[in-house]
Amino acid sequence: MAEKNGSRLIPRSNDGTYVPDMATALTPCDMDNVPTHVEKIKKLAGNISPSDVATRHQLLEAAPSLVRALETPRETMIKHCWAQPAAMTALTLGVDVGLLHAMAADGGSSKTTADLAQRVRVETAVITRIAQHLGAMGYVIETGQDEYKPTKFTTALCIPSINAGYPVLQGVFPVKERLIDGFEGDDGAGFLVDIGGSIGHDIQEFLHKYPSPPGRLILQDLPVVIGQIKSLDEKIERMGYDFTTEQPIKGSRAYYMHSVLHDWPDDTCMKILARITERTEQQWRALLGAAGLKICKIWSAGEGVESLIECELL
Ligand SMILES: C[S@@+](CC[C@H](N)C(=O)[O-])C[C@H]1O[C@@H](n2cnc3c(N)ncnc32)[C@H](O)[C@@H]1O
Repeated sequence: MAEKNGSRLIPRSNDGTYVPDMATALTPCDMDNVPTHVEKIKKLAGNISPSDVATRHQLLEAAPSLVRALETPRETMIKHCWAQPAAMTALTLGVDVGLLHAMAADGGSSKTTADLAQRVRVETAVITRIAQHLGAMGYVIETGQDEYKPTKFTTALCIPSINAGYPVLQGVFPVKERLIDGFEGDDGAGFLVDIGGSIGHDIQEFLHKYPSPPGRLILQDLPVVIGQIKSLDEKIERMGYDFTTEQPIKGSRAYYMHSVLHDWPDDTCMKILARITERTEQQWRALLGAAGLKICKIWSAGEGVESLIECELL
């Protein structure tokens, strides 16, 4: 049997290539050198002082070397593929819904997930899942059953220039400057339509950040999906709608589509987008009027069919 890097190599298939056997992935990467890493860390840590930046950097290199030697390849893979992406999501959510601020409140005292959930107006089950994962990753401290307090790291994420590294759409898009400022509609005008918004998690989050939107917030999805909504703020209108058909909300300040267009073919995307850009009769009158034309008559064969607009010069 062939040997490579201390691993047994076994035939993978008939093509003659070899792969290591599974034991390679399930044993520590470099157990032989663990004592050397530990000795180095002990020596560096024994000499460090708070102002000793150089030793701190040497320790920062040495500590992960020890972890890499101790970890099995499978453990490293799980960390990369599952634990860290989920931690990134939990931290982003934690910043976005205000969870980390709530944790840092009252001097960072221990709080139950039910208390935190109430402070940020998110379901307790969601907050518990986030806190559990952050606790498992060492970013918050579990102080009791469903009870947590922040670490220095999660407390620091309440600083805008630090938490800006964990962006979400509403964190990067300048909602106030681009949507709220300059919006001329009244309460009855569409402000934001979330098309294909599922059960409303995004638009609910938007409302959480902007509790007094200047116009209507409308959630659209297929009726079967809208029918599954269990809780949604009553300020958000629920609308069963098929986005391949005529858009009932005309002239909204914004139409939002998140993870909707990515898996449709181009021609369907064109149809979906065309539904948003359709103009109402009133909008046609305004547009053509501005161009010096007056509408004499709109010749229509019925709803959802193209019409002919007859105009004359003003
Ligand atoms: C990938 S999900 C995205 C959901 C949500 N926007 C988000 O980012 O989490 C796509 C959504 O499009 C909705 N959808 C699919 N076909 C639709 C149609 N013809 N009209 C309206 N919504 C549709 C689905 O029900 C689903 O909620």
